[in-house]
Amino acid sequence: MTLTTKFLGRTYSSPLMNGAGVRCSTAGDLEKLRHSSAGSFVTKTATLTPRAGNPGHRMSPLPYGSINSMGLPNKGLTYYLDYLTALPDHGANNFLSVAGFSEADQLAVLAQIAANDFAGIVELNLSCPNIPGHPQLAYDFDATDALLDKVFTRFPQLELGVKLPPFFDPIHFDAIARILNQYPVKYTNSINSLGNGFFVDPQTDAPAIEPKGGFGGIGGGYAKPTALANVRALHERLRDDIAQIGTGGVQTGRDVYDLILCGASMVQVATAFGPEGVPIFDRLNQELQDILTSKGYADVTSAVGQLHVAA
Ligand code: DOR
Repeated sequence: MTLTTKFLGRTYSSPLMNGAGVRCSTAGDLEKLRHSSAGSFVTKTATLTPRAGNPGHRMSPLPYGSINSMGLPNKGLTYYLDYLTALPDHGANNFLSVAGFSEADQLAVLAQIAANDFAGIVELNLSCPNIPGHPQLAYDFDATDALLDKVFTRFPQLELGVKLPPFFDPIHFDAIARILNQYPVKYTNSINSLGNGFFVDPQTDAPAIEPKGGFGGIGGGYAKPTALANVRALHERLRDDIAQIGTGGVQTGRDVYDLILCGASMVQVATAFGPEGVPIFDRLNQELQDILTSKGYADVTSAVGQLHVAA
């Protein structure tokens, strides 16, 4: 049984990787990932210029996951491009997560990438819930459509996927799929955190985090059923040549396997990667391998989308 995985014509030793955000902001973080048993890595979402992110206490572990309002702290696009293009393969097998704060800003980010010799995959984050005054872009279907139209007209050479927020209604699954199916999007990544959740700290009776009055993105176990729903719903609706990454609530090999059954070819780990660090990939690889073996699969690809559904 092999965990070797194909994604966008590339070959990876495992379908597992980090999710953008946790332990992937510095070259040191990325080097740890590069030398780990993760199949690939994605950078912290980069913006055109470096950002300190939101002030105050901005991430808390919760009983079944986490809440964060980081506000996209990152070292700026140039830093991540410099790191990736200095790798032996110019980052060909890695993912660069990026975001902008307006259409012009998004296009400027992509123009800088296109002008570089980064050979990898761009993950356009359309779903950060934590920037005061800026909605999660993919909830605005018209703006998403208009942006993708410009992106693929101007930068047809980029291999680009989109990081999506969770959707909660079949009409919204239909709407986002109808838009994505019109463009040469390479993949979707579902889901970003459950936006604007809230948690009261029982010790202090105060919100668990400080920015935005306590509202923040919920990750970890709370997110898993919604992640499965989004991967499954998009698997049923997207063109066959649009691949999927599944993210949300992965703590065990079973969680990875469930996302694969629902349609994910690769699976990202964010909240649980925080406390465990890179050894989590050794554990999850082993647990996934054990499950796939016990289910009789010879490789990961054969399990993608193989949910058992009544005929
Ligand atoms: O939950 C999230 N937090 N999702 C994002 O896309 C960005 C991140 C942050 O930096 O706030």
